[in-house]
Amino acid sequence: MAVTAPPIDIGISESQRQQIAEGLGRVLADSTVLYAKTHGFHWNVTGPMFNTLHLMFMEQYTELWTALDEIAERIRALGLPAPFGAQTYSTLSSIPETDGIPSAMAMVRELVEGHEAVARTIRGVFAIADAANDEPTADLLTQRLQIHEKTAWMLRSLLEG
Ligand SMILES: [Fe+2]
Repeated sequence: MAVTAPPIDIGISESQRQQIAEGLGRVLADSTVLYAKTHGFHWNVTGPMFNTLHLMFMEQYTELWTALDEIAERIRALGLPAPFGAQTYSTLSSIPETDGIPSAMAMVRELVEGHEAVARTIRGVFAIADAANDEPTADLLTQRLQIHEKTAWMLRSLLEG
């Protein structure tokens, strides 16, 4: 007889694991939309700030790309499927797609709003993870919050005279 996997028994109830995974799915969707937006801005930015922004956006999309894997694999470790696909992400994400090609500073402004939107989504999910004593998720979300808030500050500084 084939050996089957035992039920997941990590001290977090199934309904809590589902709620946390659902929240992490929204963080993953926001992060993916923001990743793709940042990479698109890296390609399309123009103007006197080209070099600075082209490189800054590259650093930011590279960081976001790495984070996607961490978030998705935490969902898997909780025993739930990690959402994927452009349509799924656009349904789950709180960040709107960009219309056309914004000016360089409009790109910066849109990214400030994007990083702040992910921060808000994360704060909502943090409470659920915390209530379930899910330390690894709380730790991951704390790290993500720190990065999104720092990046929002750096981008915001470009807009302040
Ligand atoms: Fe590039």
